[in-house]
Amino acid sequence: MQRLIPTLRKDNVDAALISVLHSLQICAKEIAYRLSQGEMAGVLGSTLDENIQGETQKKLDVLANQLLKDILLESDFVRAVASEEEDGIVNGNLQGKYLVAFDPLDGSSNIDINSVVGTIFSVLPVPANASGEADMFLQPGNHQVAAGYVLYGPSTMLVLTTGHGVRMFTLDQTVGEFLLTDDQVTIEPSTREFAINMSNYRHWQDGMRRYVDDLLQGVEGPRGKNFNMRWVAAMVADVHRVLCRGGLFAYPWDGRSADKPYKLRLMYEGNPMAWLVEQAGGLAYTESQRIMTIQPTDIHQRISVILGSADEVKSCLNYLESSQK
Ligand code: AHG
Ligand code: MN
Ligand code: MN
Repeated sequence: MQRLIPTLRKDNVDAALISVLHSLQICAKEIAYRLSQGEMAGVLGSTLDENIQGETQKKLDVLANQLLKDILLESDFVRAVASEEEDGIVNGNLQGKYLVAFDPLDGSSNIDINSVVGTIFSVLPVPANASGEADMFLQPGNHQVAAGYVLYGPSTMLVLTTGHGVRMFTLDQTVGEFLLTDDQVTIEPSTREFAINMSNYRHWQDGMRRYVDDLLQGVEGPRGKNFNMRWVAAMVADVHRVLCRGGLFAYPWDGRSADKPYKLRLMYEGNPMAWLVEQAGGLAYTESQRIMTIQPTDIHQRISVILGSADEVKSCLNYLESSQK
């Protein structure tokens, strides 16, 4: 089985970008190890202890954030990083060609129950006349040069695109390498599975309620087929399932609180997952727009997300559109 770096070389990925992805691979292995230590993480020794300041018994999402920052900012090729866990960006090497945005641990409420979590990342080019400020990151998702996630499940997997389709790698613990286990991930256009937090039903807009109502009616309803539902409460795991066997994943607009109508973040969750899904033949939209065409206005901006099997995403968007007329 092929290792990560030779696979990237075969795709003619820029050497500097390969180096950034190599740094991310090191982070992934370290975070996987820490997670496997559970409550003992940050207490027991680790290969990177000396790089982490005041780390004793830190929460795992804080630890993951620190690890990513420490390792990525050591890279000659990383100009700056932006993290869900940081207020502002953190500058690295002034000569660096790339910006890295990440969600250090997605699904962090799952940590307490020893369930699946992941790290999501998005690599962007440094724009011309880089300011050294957060505005360097405010580029639409279609500028991404690499995007992916690491899933810390029963096995640790790295799922990646550099624009040459989607590849899945599995961490072989015996040699400490990510090995290529699926070199052409594809999402079937049609599906019988959806993922949404149903407890928000009463807060959704009409179109979303009508769409889900019809899914629930199964063979007796207008859709004419039964649908199954899954919700891991970690986007990384729910999207991984969509990439593995199709499905629709949605975290739509809801009216729970006026100041927070969306849950998921554009830069750390929406864009990287949208590119992966599109590269695998699926679609990724908000209620009204392709996610990757959104011009971000803030690094921590939140959006609604409807992604997955192409026919199902279109069907959902049709319900939303027709209820607005
Ligand atoms: P994070 O742990 O990075 O804050 O993200 C959690 C997100 C996402 O992963 C998941 O799909 C969603 O929150 C779950 O939300 P609910 O708690 O509403 O199910
Ligand atoms: Mn998240
Ligand atoms: Mn997170």
